[in-house]
Amino acid sequence: MGSSPFLSLFLFFFFLALVSLTPLAIGGGDEVGVKSTGLVLNFYKESCPQAEEIISQQVKLLYKRHKNTAFSWLRNIFHDCAVQSCDASLLLDSTRRSLSEKEADRSFGMRNFRYIETIKEAVERECPGVVSCSDILVLSARDGIAELGGPYIPLRTGRRDGRKSRGADLLEEYLPDHNESISSVMDKFHALGIDTPGVVALLGAHSVGRTHCVKLVHRLYPEVDPALNPDHVPHMLKKCPDAIPDPKAVQYVRNDRGTPMKLDNNYYRNILDDKGLLQVDHDIAHDKRTRPFVKKMAKNQNYFFREFSRAITILSENNPLTGDEGEIRKRCNAVNKRH
Ligand code: HEM
Ligand SMILES: *[C@@H]1O[C@H](CO)[C@@H](O)[C@H](O)[C@H]1NC(C)=O
Repeated sequence: MGSSPFLSLFLFFFFLALVSLTPLAIGGGDEVGVKSTGLVLNFYKESCPQAEEIISQQVKLLYKRHKNTAFSWLRNIFHDCAVQSCDASLLLDSTRRSLSEKEADRSFGMRNFRYIETIKEAVERECPGVVSCSDILVLSARDGIAELGGPYIPLRTGRRDGRKSRGADLLEEYLPDHNESISSVMDKFHALGIDTPGVVALLGAHSVGRTHCVKLVHRLYPEVDPALNPDHVPHMLKKCPDAIPDPKAVQYVRNDRGTPMKLDNNYYRNILDDKGLLQVDHDIAHDKRTRPFVKKMAKNQNYFFREFSRAITILSENNPLTGDEGEIRKRCNAVNKRH
């Protein structure tokens, strides 16, 4: 109706551009994301067919003896993969020249590293020099999540191990602190390609395990944080009786008092109830960007599991070393000696 020919011409080309670009932006981006990692399902199918079975068996055996090993496998995938690459740099010991990632402040409370060596040794007995520590780290997380009652997440393999620790300082750039703002937490995860529901789902990992008093006392002393549920405070005070916890005493509070050994959506009900321990746990239940997802996950365990699986998959494929990059470590705590 009287529209100028220029406008129609403009619109025509505009839509032409839109139509031709859209498939690239959607399909193309997706494909690149999958291809460029170089990871595949069951990478060791030919080179070490029993690898995944041996790892699963070891995870089960260790879990029977020490339930908290599964918490560690779950935490490992975050602390290794979120820091530039899933390259098992987290597992390296300190050297004379550098402090290891696992001894850095952000790794506070991490445990059970020696049992990763137990798994590695079992795999090495069957196929020496074939299976990387980074794949063992990722597959043990997959199996640990399942042991804890979480979803079974098929994860790709074919990672190789890095040859150096990424250094303690770098961790702070990638791993948020316990009291970091939600904006800053989101920036860090978005940079890894993990969206807001993904971030909320990943924090559901705090449905298991423990938090030491040093990370909590600022919410209890000198005054109790009024945002904390008053019903939860006596328990926290009982577990953390000192404003300055004795660093040698192992004082901690379980993350989820209700179902401490289960990876489930009880975490979301706790944080909506102001029973979240860390500041960040509390904050995601109250920030308006994250609260809707917290509520949905509190109501719907399947939704939590779906988002959790998606986010763990993205995390596990962050920038791996493949092909002839890196190496296959003989032991997970040290790089191979060069001949
Ligand atoms: C904003 C992000 C996060 C922060 C600030 C954070 C911080 C912490 C802190 C301070 C602890 C307590 C350590 C201790 O006192 O022993 C902890 C424990 C834990 N975190 Fe996170 N975390 C975050 C995200 C994640 C993610 C994404 C995962 C896994 C997907 C995860 C898994 C765990 C597990 C399983 C524990 C319990 C460990 C155990 O009991 O040995 N965390 N986290
Ligand atoms: C977060 O807590 C640490 C102690 O764990 C403290 O040094 C730091 O100042 C706190 N940061 C903020 C933003 O409150």
